[in-house]
Amino acid sequence: MSFNKEYKEISEPILNNANFVKLKDDNHHGSTRYDHCRRVSYLSFLMAKIFKGNCKNVVEAGLLHDFFHGNTNSNESITYLTHPKTSVENAKKYFELNKEEEEIIETHMYHYALVKNAFPFINKGEKVKAKEYKPKSKEGAIVCISDLLVSIFEVARFKVRYNTCLYILFAINLMRY
Ligand SMILES: [Fe+2]
Ligand SMILES: [Fe+2]
Repeated sequence: MSFNKEYKEISEPILNNANFVKLKDDNHHGSTRYDHCRRVSYLSFLMAKIFKGNCKNVVEAGLLHDFFHGNTNSNESITYLTHPKTSVENAKKYFELNKEEEEIIETHMYHYALVKNAFPFINKGEKVKAKEYKPKSKEGAIVCISDLLVSIFEVARFKVRYNTCLYILFAINLMRY
């Protein structure tokens, strides 16, 4: 079976679910949360192929890792650290998750927890113990890394405006002289 066909077979029940489709209305890194989740899931799938991980678990958990509405500005109950648990609760309403998938979703913000530990002034109000977010499986690490890579790509491509890039390039050029 081809990669794309296999990915399609695992992902379609979630991608076509009416409640999941509503993520198209949520903005995420300048794109939609639906597209963000699809990108994370597909990259996780490719990485699972390379590192011989469980493809079904990473595809499903990748799709559902940010299954919530609103954002940290509009909804106080959604934060960088709480949304993994919210996503698991939402996902369980419409899909059957196994224990490993729940764990993958709950630990996908390990990258943020590490950054926050290194720079505690970021979102001062929220305390974090990074080890609580440490992925417990290869699949957990895959989804966490995919989320980080996709987020960097999205912020660079969709969120940072063209003019901002020009100013940064201009400033770098000034520093060279
Ligand atoms: Fe997330
Ligand atoms: Fe994400």
